[in-house]
Amino acid sequence: MSHPRSALLNVMTAAAQKAARRMVRDFGEVENLQVSKKGPADFVSIADKKAEETLVRDLQKARPDYGFILEEGNDIEGKDTSNTWIIDPLDGTTNFLHGIPHFAISIGLVRDGEPFAGVVYNPVTDEMFWAEKGQGAFLNGRRLRVSAREKMAECLFATGIPFLGKKKDTDRYLDRIDKVTSMSSGIRRFGSAALDLAFVAAARYDGYWEDGLQSWDIAAGIVLVREAGGFVTDIDGKRNMLENGSVIAAAEKMHTPLSKLIK
Ligand code: IPD
Ligand code: CA
Ligand code: CA
Repeated sequence: MSHPRSALLNVMTAAAQKAARRMVRDFGEVENLQVSKKGPADFVSIADKKAEETLVRDLQKARPDYGFILEEGNDIEGKDTSNTWIIDPLDGTTNFLHGIPHFAISIGLVRDGEPFAGVVYNPVTDEMFWAEKGQGAFLNGRRLRVSAREKMAECLFATGIPFLGKKKDTDRYLDRIDKVTSMSSGIRRFGSAALDLAFVAAARYDGYWEDGLQSWDIAAGIVLVREAGGFVTDIDGKRNMLENGSVIAAAEKMHTPLSKLIK
């Protein structure tokens, strides 16, 4: 069963699908370059930029006045100041670089300061997660609901692990991991914040938290989780996720217990 998408979402999903075609080819090439001495790093950085250019071109064609916040390129100011695309052309770069098929194109639309619509697309699995405020969240044609689990012991959570070059407060980070692992079914670190949020929307994870993120990692995913009936705040319990790059996302019942553990 497929669900009708709004004109806006059609624009977003079509742009993602088009950029994805080249990305899938490039991913195939990475698998070859993997075993070469030089490795695929430069190649991937070009693939990343190319994908972003394609997305900007297509979205601009459809909505000429909207502005852009981009991971790779400079921000583009739009005539219509109430609508801004927030784009990560390749979320999960490290996975891509290592030939691991877990990465996504993430397109968020912020309207009047609030995440309004989001598309997160994994081109390898062909999983298109999409949502628009008030319209629900979907995976391909299937409606999504966040998980109904209420027992911490049964919950599976996702987070990010800091790495070289990432600002980190190691003690606090380890303390959170310690608390959550000792109370739950475990933690995953799959390496794409956009897909982590999409997986919360799809009830694969019962919750997710991370800090040190950028707006393009999470703008689309926030809409997915909310439209699937979940709660998203920053780590202080406020709604400034896009500004401070921290996020806690879970079903309503688990959001408070998870927040308490990681405070
Ligand atoms: C990264 C991924 C990762 C998160 C990092 C991000 P990138 O984005 O979302 O899951 O832990 O903080 O930088 O670099 O692959 O676009
Ligand atoms: Ca990212
Ligand atoms: Ca990226």
